[in-house]
Amino acid sequence: MPPPTWLTSILAPCVLGAALLAGPLSKAREPPLAGWDLPAQAQVIDQRAFNALERVESQEAFDGSSLFYPPGTDASSLKARPYHVYHDDFYAVIGPEPTLTLIAATETDPLFHEAVVWYPPTDEVFFVQNAGARAAGTGLAKSAIIQKIDLAQADAAKHKANATGEVDVRVVPSQPQVINPNGGTNWRGQIVFAGEGQGADVPSALYAMNPVAPYNTTVLVNNFFGRQFSSLNDVAVHPSNGWIYFTDVDYGHLQDFRAKVNIRRQVYRWHPDTGVIQAVADYTLRPNGLTFSPDGKWLYVTDTGAAQGFTGVDWSAPASIYRLPVNDDGTLGPNELFTYVHVGVPDGVHCDTKGNVYSGVGDGLHVWNPAGTLIGKIYTGAVAANFQFAGKGRIVICCETELYYGTLAAEGAHITDL
Ligand SMILES: *[C@@H]1O[C@H](CO)[C@@H](O)[C@H](O)[C@H]1NC(C)=O
Ligand SMILES: *[C@@H]1O[C@H](CO)[C@@H](O)[C@H](O)[C@H]1NC(C)=O
Repeated sequence: MPPPTWLTSILAPCVLGAALLAGPLSKAREPPLAGWDLPAQAQVIDQRAFNALERVESQEAFDGSSLFYPPGTDASSLKARPYHVYHDDFYAVIGPEPTLTLIAATETDPLFHEAVVWYPPTDEVFFVQNAGARAAGTGLAKSAIIQKIDLAQADAAKHKANATGEVDVRVVPSQPQVINPNGGTNWRGQIVFAGEGQGADVPSALYAMNPVAPYNTTVLVNNFFGRQFSSLNDVAVHPSNGWIYFTDVDYGHLQDFRAKVNIRRQVYRWHPDTGVIQAVADYTLRPNGLTFSPDGKWLYVTDTGAAQGFTGVDWSAPASIYRLPVNDDGTLGPNELFTYVHVGVPDGVHCDTKGNVYSGVGDGLHVWNPAGTLIGKIYTGAVAANFQFAGKGRIVICCETELYYGTLAAEGAHITDL
């Protein structure tokens, strides 16, 4: 989903008065692997340092627009060492020498939004502009665009914090154009995009795109028995059962570029060989990002229910990740709460090969172990809408007006249907 305006404008720090005076963090835990020092780009955040704050932000002041700075930290110290260790499990995720590099930036145009897809044959990463943000000028006026980068260029700059200008960002002229793409993944050697549609008459659709020139596209699904979807948000291919799962939610309407909501917000599955399409979950308020655990036994669905597009935010609504067991026949069991995020809403979600879960939230990426415990952050200090691993040890993070390239130890859960 697009970043709510309340989140994109929130980089102003929240100074938790007394919290800042509470003194430095307690001593860093030892990295668990013999021979390691704490990596240069990492810092330990000890949650005991803020379990009991001298002063907690007023209920009157809270509007969800401020970031939390643990005692002894501030905006620049958190960004200076962006790999934040909350739990020892995170050391295996980051390895001894993680890096994080800003590789592209814009003044205001949210070019680096979602649908982050790695295409191994050319070692390129694709991503799309925000269709719903006013600053993009997209949505009803024109379609959001697709762009791509060459990872070899990004990798050459990995030891710099700021390498803007060194990595080319190229427009991908899809043909016919994918209208307002928002989600994407690899599928049978192509990229499948979830397009949100436009106005009343351009239906939201799943498209396949050829990842090499001429970037020709084919509409795969654009209706549910003749009815339009609201605005398809994200798409994931199950690692073994052949079904494609996708979310439909009301952001196109809440961001003023879809006419109405005529259908329930839910998760669907579609089988490309039989054409069967069916709703498989409607438990969540605003199903958004979705991904499978590496063994295919769980579907993780982010719920951005709190974010209501241009109509505001309701902090009593979900800002949560749910997970649902995947039955042998590909249907889904009852959902359970996996985690509730403490800053913003969880948007894109992906797993690594160990089953750790990563999601883009209000201050970067958060990482949880399979038990739902926050083990660390890749901190950008800005809303990360989505991201994707590029195989082993590489990650690309879209923060709307900023694009980051990171290197670490983790490997993305294998990509189906390469
Ligand atoms: C990154 O470098 C560019 C080019 O030198 C500069 O304009 C920009 O302000 C820098 N950004 C940050 C966040 O330091
Ligand atoms: C693109 O065109 C090629 C050649 O006609 C075709 O084989 C391929 O299926 C097309 N891909 C898509 C996604 O339409």
